[in-house]
Amino acid sequence: MCKLNVMVLFGGKSKEHEVSLMSATSMLNAMNKEKYEIITVGITRDGIWKKYKGSYDKIQTGEWEQLAEGENLSFISLLDDSTGKENASEIKALKKDARQLENLKIDVVFPALHGPYGEDGKVQGLLEILGIPYIGAGVLSSALAMDKAMLKKVFDAEKIPQAKYKVIKNYKNLTPDDVVVEIESFFGYPVFIKPANLGSSVGISKAKNKQEVISATELASKYDKKVLVEEFIDGREIECAVLGNEYPIASLPAEIIPSREFYDYNDKYFDGKSKFIIPADIGNELIEQVKNLAIKVYKIIDCSGLARVDFFLESKSNRLLVNEINTMPGFTEISMYPKMWEASGINYEDLIDRLIQLALKKHRL
Ligand SMILES: Nc1ncnc2c1ncn2[C@@H]1O[C@H](COP(=O)(O)OP(=O)(O)O)[C@@H](O)[C@H]1O
Ligand SMILES: [Mg+2]
Repeated sequence: MCKLNVMVLFGGKSKEHEVSLMSATSMLNAMNKEKYEIITVGITRDGIWKKYKGSYDKIQTGEWEQLAEGENLSFISLLDDSTGKENASEIKALKKDARQLENLKIDVVFPALHGPYGEDGKVQGLLEILGIPYIGAGVLSSALAMDKAMLKKVFDAEKIPQAKYKVIKNYKNLTPDDVVVEIESFFGYPVFIKPANLGSSVGISKAKNKQEVISATELASKYDKKVLVEEFIDGREIECAVLGNEYPIASLPAEIIPSREFYDYNDKYFDGKSKFIIPADIGNELIEQVKNLAIKVYKIIDCSGLARVDFFLESKSNRLLVNEINTMPGFTEISMYPKMWEASGINYEDLIDRLIQLALKKHRL
């Protein structure tokens, strides 16, 4: 049998670099080596691409990057930020490097990257230009799902139920008092304040008073010029996995019970104290509603491959509100996305096979 050459891209420039190392290591260990010839390419935090040949556990620990250039680690100078500053040399470097990627004879890329530069359409655009099939959402849907403020506007246009919100642009040009007045005229406390483009709860705070609004907005604006303010939704957190291109299917939903005040970065990746209930104990009717709404929003943003759609089930109204869509959700064997599929009858290895087939099918269209 002819093996498919699969390039797994990991790391990346975003604050979710480590999360990507975890996702990539898990999927690399699980991928069927009889079916796939695997090429691993790491992207450093500075955005330098390096082809890596060593053991997979050195990816998870970050040791891969410390290796000396040589047999196990070699530059792919494409997207090396240190290449010439002048246009002509940049273009030359790009041409040379595009050939390097082409020479790797890749059949499909798995961009196991989370957050900006990996999950937001930028890498996807590059792969489109090179004509290489890749797993997951295309340029537009990736970019839309990454930008929580834009996604909210699209959801409004489609009458998707969601939390009330306001977008603050260029916070640095405003005075903190103006921001507080604006927020207080629109919301009661508490509010959630988030950078528009990020994930893994990085830069997100729950603000309960004026002072906290100022510090939370300052924190969020360190990560993005655009900051999103949302009403606090008192409710349960429900997630649903979606898989497919034109005819997507939804998994059994899950409930997350955070161990902290909200589902923050520590809770997600370090504490291990939050609880996951699969399937969510919300009754069949709500399960169907979650699945239908997950597929609906997936289609609204023209998603393909995979996405995890996250909801709030508001306590006082029992209404389902869409929180966000993640087009490259955490993908370790114990992450919610694969776990929800496992509970729905698709195991981790099969899931990877299906995603690869979906990527190839989409490319052929
Ligand atoms: N409006 C809100 N009301 C209540 N909790 C929220 C709200 N927005 C976010 N959260 C909490 O913060 C967590 C992270 O926010 P989210 O918007 O999902 O960002 P990320 O993309 O970083 O996961 C959520 O899982 C939830 O626990
Ligand atoms: Mg989230």
